[in-house]
Formats: sequence, structure tokens, C-alpha cells
Amino acid sequence: MKILTIIGARPQIIKAAAISRAVKNIFPSQIEEKILHTGQHYDANMSQVFFDELGIPQPDFNLGVGSGSHGSQTARMISGIEEVLLKHSFDGIILYGDTNSTLAGAVAASKIHVPVFHIEAGLRSFNMAMPEEINRIVCDQLSSICFAPTQTAVDNLRHEGFNDSPATFRNGKHRRVCNCGDVMYDNSMYFATLASQRSTIMQDLNLQPGAYILATIHRDNNTDNPQRLQAILKALTDIAKQDNIRIVLPLHPRTRKILENTPSLLPSLTTDNSPVSIIPPAGFFDISVLEQNAKLVMTDSGGVQKEAFFFEKPCVILRPETEWVEIVNHGAGIIADADYNRIVSAYRQLIDHPVHFPHLFGDAHAAEKILQTILDY
Ligand code: UD1
Ligand code: UDP
Repeated sequence: MKILTIIGARPQIIKAAAISRAVKNIFPSQIEEKILHTGQHYDANMSQVFFDELGIPQPDFNLGVGSGSHGSQTARMISGIEEVLLKHSFDGIILYGDTNSTLAGAVAASKIHVPVFHIEAGLRSFNMAMPEEINRIVCDQLSSICFAPTQTAVDNLRHEGFNDSPATFRNGKHRRVCNCGDVMYDNSMYFATLASQRSTIMQDLNLQPGAYILATIHRDNNTDNPQRLQAILKALTDIAKQDNIRIVLPLHPRTRKILENTPSLLPSLTTDNSPVSIIPPAGFFDISVLEQNAKLVMTDSGGVQKEAFFFEKPCVILRPETEWVEIVNHGAGIIADADYNRIVSAYRQLIDHPVHFPHLFGDAHAAEKILQTILDY
């Protein structure tokens, strides 16, 4: 079987590592994988670092689309992906998550009848103001197999009329919904020890385990709204000062650009004795070690929310809602939005009370189950 994996943004490159590893180790004679990078993320620390660290084969195709408005970026991707699909013959494409690269792959392939296999299908925020919500709904609709990572995701798809029986026909198309677990859990477990051996981030930043909060911020409704960004940064700084705890903030380029262009937001973070350590986007080994040793995580990232849970760290969610509702339902995460008081009180609640982390995201072998399901299809 000849499969094209389509990636573009940081989290997709990371997720693809689990699939490429399973192709190489378990299905080398049954599956031939080619990789297409749309070029949505292109800085070395947003892209190449993950190929190097996680052993992902270099892309066979790189569209180099770069940044742009939603329409122009997605249009360039659709056109480039279509060209590759028309020139080469593939039995299906694998897509991840909910970025513009995901949407472009789904539109390009489905119109020329190439089956779409969507990993991380069925997640819903029920917030159509999020570009990701639009991308994932469209992608699920166009997919032949929706790989839902949680039972909640399966239920969401069922409510939208999908059927998770082994083979169903809907709108004349063969479609399946499968919960094989979460490929991100595969990766976090697979690389946890290697990351601890290779990363020097704790020494480089002079960090003690349990003595810092790891924070990440990149969601457009936080970065593009100065009031929200200010409330988050003030809450982080005040918590750090009150509790004499450090904050480590690996900065997404989107957030860095906004901060650089909004000088009023920076002073509290850049004073000599600021408790907030702003660092460039971390590689996977460094972020894994930062997650493993943090006291708590504060994030608006979908992936970092989950990795905090995998490493049994409580998480303050800097969004109005989450797709990973299990984390909140089990008390391991609290939704605080970008509200100063809610962030401070969520932090207090999570450090003052014991938190449990049941196994919710599969058995760390999601990738091989996904590939077997695709082969059976
Ligand atoms: C994208 C995804 C988001 C995902 C995130 C993961 C969409 C609509 N959004 O958001 O779902 O959570 O990736 O990180 O697909 N930039 C650089 N260098 C890079 C990449 C980006 O400087 O290598 C800057 C550019 O100024 C760019 C901005 O970041 O305009 C935003 O990048 P973009 O890929 O459009 O969206 P993200 O916010 O990264
Ligand atoms: N990540 C990383 N370096 C960082 C921040 C995040 O390698 O500085 C990883 C993180 O471990 C996770 C993925 O990127 O695997 C999450 O991607 P991101 O937060 O960019 O997007 P989201 O998951 O919200 O779509």
C-alpha cells in the first residue's frame, strides 16, 4: 500500500513520527510511506528539529507555502497537494489534527477520490470562531476513516451522523470511525527516557524539578487580543512573584511577533529579576523534559494539555473550552480562559488538591493499530 503523509505545522510533524516509526518497524514490506510537508511551519525550531530528534524521514515533497492569510495559505496548499496526488499514485493520504494543512489535504484528495485517513478525528470545541474547528469538521466529513483518539471524539462523530460499526456507508462512501488511541501518547512514552538522557534544558536554565511552571501561549484568540494576552501574562507574573516560583515560557513565533510589536506587554517580562524565562520554541526532547519536571503546566495548546496529563502534571487551560474534556472531567485540568482571577484560582486549586491521572489515551501502540486498520480497509 502506498500512503502519503501530509504534515505542515509543528504538532503534525511530531504526530507523524509515531506513524513513520510503526511503518518502519512493523509494516516495512506492506506499507510504503511518502511524506509531503506543506511548509506551513518552516523555522528550524518549528520543523527541522523534530525530523532530527524523532527520526522522521525527510519529506519527499516540500511545498514551501510559508505563512499567509487562511485563504491564500490554504489555496496554495490545495493546489500543491493536488499536483503531487495527480502525478504520483497513492492508495490514501494520512492527515493529522486540524490545521490549514489538514484542511488542504482533505479537500485536495477527496475531490480526486483518494481516500483520506484522519488521525485525531472527532475532536470538537463547539466554537466555530476557531479556525481549527472549521478545519476538523470539514476534514472529518471528507475522510474515509476517522481515527478518533478518545471515546468523546467517537461520540461527537456519532452525534454528527457517523457510525462506528466496522463498515458503514454514508453518502455513498465507505467510512469508518475507529478509536485506536492517541499517537501523541505513543510518542511521549516512546521518547520520555531518551529525552531525559539527551536534553540539557534543566541545567541550561538552572531549573529544579517541581520548582517551575511550564507555560505556552499561541492560540490566535489569545495572541491577537491584547487584553487577553495581558491578562495571561499578568497572572503568570503575579503567581511567580507570590509563590516565588519560576515560569518557563517557550515562545511560539506567532506570540513572539505580537509581543515584539506591542511594547507595553513586554516590560514586566523582561526586567532583570523577572521570574519569567522566555526561551525560543523548544525541541521535542526539551519540551518533554520541561513537562516531566514541571510543578504545573499552563497552556492554550491542545498537545501540551495532553502531554501534561501523560506526565501526570496538573494543567491550567488558557482557553474558554477544550476538546480534551476528559482531562477536565477527571479534575486534572481546569479551564481558566484568559481571565486573571480564574487563572490564579485554578492554579491554587490544582496545587492545593491531589489530582489523579487515569489512563485515557490508549496503550501507547495507537500507530500500529491505525496502520493495521488502514491495511484492512
Ligand atoms: C497553526 C495552526 C494551529 C496549531 C499551531 C501549532 C492553523 C489555522 N493553525 O497555528 O491550529 O495549533 O499551528 O503550532 O493551521 N511563524 C513563523 N515561523 C514559522 C511558523 C509560523 O514565524 O515557522 C509565524 C508567522 O508570522 C505566521 C504565524 O507564526 O504568520 C502563524 O503561523 P500559522 O501557521 O499561520 O498559524 P499558527 O498560529 O502557527
Ligand atoms: N512543542 C514543542 N516545543 C514547544 C512547544 C510545544 O515541541 O516549545 C510540542 C509539544 O510537545 C506538542 C506539540 O508541540 O507535542 C504541540 O504543538 P502546539 O502547541 O504548537 O499546537 P497544538 O497542539 O495546540 O495544535
